[in-house]
Amino acid sequence: MKVLAFVGSPRGNGNTARMVDAVCKGAAAVGHDIETINVTRLNIHDCTACCACKVGKVEYCALNDDMQKLYPKIIEADCIVVGTPVYMGQMSGQLKNFFDRWYTFMDASYKIRYIPGKKYITVTASGAPAEIFQSLTDYLNHWLGTFFKMALIKNIVAGGLGPPDAIDDQPEILAMAEQTGRALR
Ligand SMILES: Cc1cc2nc3c(=O)[nH]c(=O)nc-3n(C[C@H](O)[C@H](O)[C@H](O)COP(=O)(O)O)c2cc1C
Repeated sequence: MKVLAFVGSPRGNGNTARMVDAVCKGAAAVGHDIETINVTRLNIHDCTACCACKVGKVEYCALNDDMQKLYPKIIEADCIVVGTPVYMGQMSGQLKNFFDRWYTFMDASYKIRYIPGKKYITVTASGAPAEIFQSLTDYLNHWLGTFFKMALIKNIVAGGLGPPDAIDDQPEILAMAEQTGRALR
């Protein structure tokens, strides 16, 4: 299985990245192919609403930036891991820009293409206790699950996090993340 993981935190080795890495470590241990991409390191323009993707003018998107190399990777992946810190009660802006560019996964007739049926795992990290931002998990499940028709494997939610390595004090979450990757079939 190809597991493609996206980290939406500018902290390359922060809490989100550590949890995503734990999922990937577990998945790699049982033989899955892993690739992790930090979207904050890439040139991902915000959607300009040109709607070229809705009139069949382009394969994916008219904007010529790093999304052009991400689209084929997303389409080839069997499982997508999405990790984000909670910023102002939501996913990070960088990750939201990335998701706006998924508009192309609705074709010209507004039918979802390429991604239905893929598995997905969400990872969220917040300063406040984990249960405070259930709305972010609900949002991700709505768009990835209900709207894009992907199959939820697990929502990994951690709270009480400040410094980039704070998650190391919650080894049970890291163990659960690793087990989630290890259980991927
Ligand atoms: C711009 C910004 C906004 C934040 N907003 C929130 C928030 O609304 N609620 C919260 O609990 N934590 C908030 N935090 C704290 C982060 O969610 C928390 O430190 C998280 O562990 C960061 O993950 P990271 O280490 O992967 O970057 C915010 C942090 C930053 C930098």
